[in-house]
Amino acid sequence: MKHSPLINKIPHILHGADYNPEQWLGHPEVFQEDLRMMKLANCNIMSVGIFSWNMLENQESHITFDWMDKVIDGLYANGVSVILATPSGARPHWLAEKYPEVLRTNQHGVKDLFGNRHNHCFTSPVYREKVANINAALVERYGTHPAIAAWHVSNEYNGECYCPLCKKAFQDYLKDKYKDLETLNYKWWTAFWSHSYTSWEQIEPPMIHGEQLLHGLNLDWKRFVTHQTIDFYKHEIKVLKEKAPHIPATTNFMGTFPGLDYWEFAKALDFVSNDIYPAWHQTEDLPTASFAAFTHDLTRSLNGGKPFMLMESTPSLTNWSNTNRPKKPNMHILSSIQAIAHGSDTVQYFQWRKSRGSSEKFHGAVVGHDGHENTRVFKDVANLGNILTKLDGVVGTSNKAETALLFDWENMWAINGAAGFSMSHKDYIETVHCHYHSLWEQNIPVDVINENSEFEGYKLIILPMMHMIRPGVAERLEKYVAAGGTIVTTYWSGYVDETDLCFLGGMPGPLRKLLGIWSEEVDCLLEGEKNTVIPADPFLSKEYDAVDTCELIHAETAKVLAAFGSDFYAGRPALTVNSFGKGKAYYVAFRNTEDFHPDFYRKLRGDLGIERSVDMDTPPGVSVQKRSDGESDYLFVMNFNKEPVRVDLSGLGYIDAVTGERVYGELVLEGYGCKVLGVG
Ligand code: GLA
Ligand code: ZN
Repeated sequence: MKHSPLINKIPHILHGADYNPEQWLGHPEVFQEDLRMMKLANCNIMSVGIFSWNMLENQESHITFDWMDKVIDGLYANGVSVILATPSGARPHWLAEKYPEVLRTNQHGVKDLFGNRHNHCFTSPVYREKVANINAALVERYGTHPAIAAWHVSNEYNGECYCPLCKKAFQDYLKDKYKDLETLNYKWWTAFWSHSYTSWEQIEPPMIHGEQLLHGLNLDWKRFVTHQTIDFYKHEIKVLKEKAPHIPATTNFMGTFPGLDYWEFAKALDFVSNDIYPAWHQTEDLPTASFAAFTHDLTRSLNGGKPFMLMESTPSLTNWSNTNRPKKPNMHILSSIQAIAHGSDTVQYFQWRKSRGSSEKFHGAVVGHDGHENTRVFKDVANLGNILTKLDGVVGTSNKAETALLFDWENMWAINGAAGFSMSHKDYIETVHCHYHSLWEQNIPVDVINENSEFEGYKLIILPMMHMIRPGVAERLEKYVAAGGTIVTTYWSGYVDETDLCFLGGMPGPLRKLLGIWSEEVDCLLEGEKNTVIPADPFLSKEYDAVDTCELIHAETAKVLAAFGSDFYAGRPALTVNSFGKGKAYYVAFRNTEDFHPDFYRKLRGDLGIERSVDMDTPPGVSVQKRSDGESDYLFVMNFNKEPVRVDLSGLGYIDAVTGERVYGELVLEGYGCKVLGVG
């Protein structure tokens, strides 16, 4: 199906950058040059004002828009729309000096000095008031300006504050959640070590020098941080929505950033936007490519499956990696097209023009310190800009997936917070990625879900390390499988409930009946140690290695497909399947190395008839994604190898969406080359 464009009045792929001209106010010629070069680069959007608070209000209540008026009018007159930021991501000196309560208090209980950014308390009434004032001034000034396409609310919200105001807000949050202390004490299991609370005021956030070992407290603190950040966001947009309800609002996420539950946050946004900086050319590019693909799929899924906004990426390099490497030829176009392939309707950068000084002066930008367009980076950006002008038909199209993969923040928090098993090899994100990588290699489209998502409609749901099971989830999974669905879950599943209390009566707790197994013990292997997994059924045709974690399970109603090869649990089940109603539930009781997932998912794909983006195997490192409006399809064929490849598309007729040429049979892609093909 076709969705409306992110910005209704701009039915094109958006192409642009963070634009911070307030750094160049003493050089008026720079703005004119920027406008000229934005045209050359085919840019149609710029994000303005992200860190401009002091340039708008350099004394309390003295707000001036002179420079911003010129910037916004100038951009608009040159065909460039504006995503206007609220400046709360970094506040001016005067504000912290006059109202020290706005400063953030760190986990040691020490108030931070002025500096950096995102250094403020989200609870502080003064900070909230000052943010509301500047936001009100912005919407009054620009709420009806035709240039304004969307609100960029703050920037990459992150961090925690441990000040007395936040502590009090945390206590209120807990009161609201648990109602009485008896319930809280039970849910947090405080009888252990005599840690029971006898008044709400005794509850501290998990400070470095305080309570760190009540896992229920730690989890609720993380939930509170998400809650308080979203509350702050809602406070920010209140005045924007009152005065200009027609302008959509978003804030830029950071992929799998562990500090905030983006499933919750996404509900508060008009559309989801994301910043992504894959570490290309560090080791192998293929895992980097599949992790970027996963991140894009996650962002699209957070946005309810609708096209999303790629808010920031670098046109060349970052400045914060250990080794910062420019993108090699073709990689800029490839990595940007990859975002579109997975559902972005935009390509935007940090930033348009390199800063002359301060901490990001060597971060990649479209325009470098040389200040002209005769650079490799500028040409790549301009070439991409030209390609994007040919992709209007892609805007609003959908990615369809029959496979869903669980990535759940609360589950990640519970795993990362747990003490036990292999402390240095928990690797939740890496494990989710490992499952995803095999699907990506086989061109199987994937939606990402959390425990609260709809399960119906998928042929296969993969739930790696589903450690925490929230109320009702097991019942919903049973319903899904009974009706014909298939699930795959793994070791470390079904251990704790939503407040981190272990399930009693046998793991995997509420999933036991569905999986038809009972898990008795867990063995964690040492670095370099291996067990083997031996087929016990024709389902598997060879042996595999087991590493890190082997779970010692009993098959109750499940059928054993493979068994461990050695140690005292030789012969015990390693892979099982349970028939449940019309569907099946697989349990993978071991962590595996590279070859198991490809074979396993190839088999399941065949058994379940899962549709691929293109019904053929492509060479290793070549990924194909499809977007469709229901009638016309776009195929994105992407080569993440540095060597050229030939992809045999014989039998089908395509049109190169960029050049308009017909493509028959074999497609030759350069190293890091890609093509967008129209079908139908
Ligand atoms: C983040 C920020 C930007 C900039 C880039 C640098 O994404 O939002 O302001 O600092 O990092 O990579
Ligand atoms: Zn605070």
